[in-house]
Amino acid sequence: MSFDGRELRNAMGRFATGVCLITTVTEDGTAMALTANSFSSVSLDPPLVLWNLQDSSDVYDVYASPRYFAINVLALQQQELSSQYARKGQHAIEPAHYRDGKFGTPIIHDALVSFECELEATYPGGDHLIIVGRIVDMSEHAAGEPLLFYAGGYRELR
Ligand SMILES: Cc1cc2nc3c(=O)[nH]c(=O)nc-3n(C[C@H](O)[C@H](O)[C@H](O)COP(=O)(O)O)c2cc1C
Repeated sequence: MSFDGRELRNAMGRFATGVCLITTVTEDGTAMALTANSFSSVSLDPPLVLWNLQDSSDVYDVYASPRYFAINVLALQQQELSSQYARKGQHAIEPAHYRDGKFGTPIIHDALVSFECELEATYPGGDHLIIVGRIVDMSEHAAGEPLLFYAGGYRELR
């Protein structure tokens, strides 16, 4: 069977996901956010999660080996944040969008849940780096609807 990159991307897009902002802080103290839908839970005990970072990212070095990072699961009304932090060169977070978590990672206001993670391991994954984090703190917010991503577009639960 043969398929090109576009066909593969379309096929993978048939898996509906939530949308997250992966946040961390650079060595010079800049709070950063990057939109990702590759988040997945891995293990309950120990509490591990993962996400995948594309090798070609301009901010690869910032995200490939941070001591701490956070995964912020976006609510339906946060679609604009998702678009904003998916733009190249637009990963510095506006101060109004976050507070500092217990471990210093940026926690996005009004996210459905934020997991602060300590870097556990990274693994090569083709043109992505698989990043596994150990959850060290989490904050969950009041009931809200999730922002979904499916077949290349944003969706909502119905
Ligand atoms: C819905 C959505 C999901 C994305 N998921 C990922 C992801 O899991 N991993 C990743 O590295 N980039 C992901 N991206 C791409 C980044 O958000 C961003 O567009 C890209 O990193 C921009 O290039 P730069 O990193 O060179 O600035 C996603 C983008 C969107 C809109």
